[in-house]
Amino acid sequence: MKKLFLLAACCLCLHAQAQQKADYRVVPLPENIQLAKTGELKLTDGMKVTYPAGNELMKNNAEFLAEYVAEITGLKLVPAAGAAQKGAINLSLAKNLKNREAYAVKVDAAGVSISGASEAGVFYGIQMLRKSLPVTQEAVLLPYGTVSDKPAFEYRGMMLDCSRHFFPVEFVKKYIDILALHGENNFHWHLTDDQGWRFEVKRYPKLTEVGSKRAQTVIGHNTGIYDGTPYGGYYTQDQCREIVEYAKKRYINVMPEIDMPGHMLGALAAYPELGCHKDHYDVWQIWGVSDDVLCVGNPKTVEFIQGVLEELIDVFPSEMIHVGGDECPKTAWKTCPTCQAKAKELGLVATEKHTVEEQLQSYFIKEMEKFLNAHGRKMIGWDETLEGGLAPNASIMSWRGLEGGIEAAKQHHNVVMTPTSFCYFDYYQSTDQKNEPIAIGGFLPVSRVYEFNPVPEQLTAEEAKYIKGCQANLWVEYIPDGNQVEYMVLPRMAALCETQWMDRSAKNYEDFVGRMPKLFALYDKLGLNYAKHLLNVNGVLTSNFDEKCVEVNLLTADKAPVYYSLDGSAPSKLYEGVLKVTDRAQIRAYAERNGVKSPEWTESVKVNKASFKNITLKDQPAPNYTYGGAKQLVDCIHGTNTFSMGAWLGFLGDDCVATLDMGTPTECSKASVRVLVETGSWVFDTNGLKVEASDDGNNWKKLGEVFYPLPTDQEKTIRVHELDFPKTKARYFRVSAGTVKSIPQFHDGRGKKGYLFVDEIELD
Ligand code: ACM
Ligand code: ZN
Repeated sequence: MKKLFLLAACCLCLHAQAQQKADYRVVPLPENIQLAKTGELKLTDGMKVTYPAGNELMKNNAEFLAEYVAEITGLKLVPAAGAAQKGAINLSLAKNLKNREAYAVKVDAAGVSISGASEAGVFYGIQMLRKSLPVTQEAVLLPYGTVSDKPAFEYRGMMLDCSRHFFPVEFVKKYIDILALHGENNFHWHLTDDQGWRFEVKRYPKLTEVGSKRAQTVIGHNTGIYDGTPYGGYYTQDQCREIVEYAKKRYINVMPEIDMPGHMLGALAAYPELGCHKDHYDVWQIWGVSDDVLCVGNPKTVEFIQGVLEELIDVFPSEMIHVGGDECPKTAWKTCPTCQAKAKELGLVATEKHTVEEQLQSYFIKEMEKFLNAHGRKMIGWDETLEGGLAPNASIMSWRGLEGGIEAAKQHHNVVMTPTSFCYFDYYQSTDQKNEPIAIGGFLPVSRVYEFNPVPEQLTAEEAKYIKGCQANLWVEYIPDGNQVEYMVLPRMAALCETQWMDRSAKNYEDFVGRMPKLFALYDKLGLNYAKHLLNVNGVLTSNFDEKCVEVNLLTADKAPVYYSLDGSAPSKLYEGVLKVTDRAQIRAYAERNGVKSPEWTESVKVNKASFKNITLKDQPAPNYTYGGAKQLVDCIHGTNTFSMGAWLGFLGDDCVATLDMGTPTECSKASVRVLVETGSWVFDTNGLKVEASDDGNNWKKLGEVFYPLPTDQEKTIRVHELDFPKTKARYFRVSAGTVKSIPQFHDGRGKKGYLFVDEIELD
């Protein structure tokens, strides 16, 4: 009787206490989730977390799990060495999992089993379980079932620049924790640059005494105004070792970068004798690319860098060591007798592909590779290290696009993809720049990060094996503190990690967005400062060439109700599914939660006579800026205020000459061409428009032409150029927009070709 009474009391108390269930559909979404029809295991205070006795890494793993669960739910789990126990969470190593980082989690009446092919795999299983938990102080139930996963790529990285701004050791550790939460396994640590040398080198003490400090810092985008405040900081070797250990416990390799032979003003300020011409250099106070670089003809430079690398590899066990190699202007070398003598000694002569100076850089980088290889390490460099010939065993980090990575993979070199177009988290994440902290420029919303495919289609299956993974980079010219670092990387890192972990065919942006509120709740619990744009209405336009319409998706991360209008009036209709626009629309939309409206999302769409027509280009855009090709010019989706996000086609040298096949004779009297202008990035307005018509696509009649003057000063804007012409009925129209063939005198690029970015072309 007594027993029965107790049972009843137990049931009663279970019902009385609110409960929340774990949800295994986390970020990144595991490959296999199989839930049992019924059954749940309750997480309880005092529950054991067993791990194989004597395995220190598994002990760490058990402690991490206990710490995470306490943080999220307040429940205290108890790590215990020894055999698996019923009703416990049991950590184990499993031989049957092929991928070294794979995990399997099983929840049933016997308890929870988290097994991994390695200790790292177990750690990833723990991270999955952690992210599945509701942030709650109520009872937590784990549904019975199995969950398993493995990463899609073996290299999953995040870079942090600690030169332009310096982040204390405690924040670097927090950054590593954020990486661990997102399943990253490489922390690329950019330790040196023009604005400060941050790595202690015992045999070259001036690197930190002098090279780690700048007298002041420019305010904003090289405004010419300075803050007047000395700035500095560096990491001692002991601190670096501490960070390496901290990361290692979280299965993250710390790959240090010493950027050479450019981006070296930190070192040149300390040891000016390593430069080509000057006897004094200052640690830079502005942003950009300096012409002052290491003198690679000087044997002392090689000796110096090798000395630095020797201490670096003593501190960092990383197999791969990053030697930078990006953005090294060759101007100083051209006139430096020492560099030129070295080129002569090496017998370097200009070839069609590479200048003497490019080969000089290649010589220098190859020397570094020899040194690293001789010390049992491998070299990786930015894609510029391909120029002048790639070092024999080197890996490439492709940042200026995918092309460097493609070329390296074809040459059978390992590649990490980190193109600006998907992976530069220093770019703006919203077009509403006035409400964002100042950023370097660009536009990289979460949705675009999500689209990233690091394996280009043009590679064969064999070549594709050299794409080892991908990484996002955080350059910090405009990011002064850890709080803002978090804002810039979250939640974009969440989008990146689905590319790093998931099979490409399983990725689904809408589904990802739906899983994010739960991760946001964890970010909140962890006190992370993340960007909240995903909570706004996220309008996604897709052009449908078959149905000749623009499809409008109005998404919210948490499926909050969205109200919209298509005619510019106050939104009042409840959004229930994809909208199809076949004419003109002025779209406004907001999400509403508990009576609170989100900021409005607005967009205009204009389907015109050129829309969705067959379009061909006389000359193709520059390879980096071809994206989806000519049809993007008539897809009714307009590029926003940055040229690198995939909507704008970029022409260099060749004019944009587009032939539109209207299908049947069609009457038109106006053409318009939308152009992005950003002369600071060598992107110029068109110098003129021409419209021609033809009935057969061979014989053309000019309908109108206009010329525009070249600019006399910097400009940054979007212009829509219109050209009216006599009403003409024709099957074909040809619209030409000229590029600047010789950049005007006021500009650094004087005499060179300017870019022309177009999106889009309309006919009315
Ligand atoms: C780079 O962004 N300069 C690698
Ligand atoms: Zn020199």
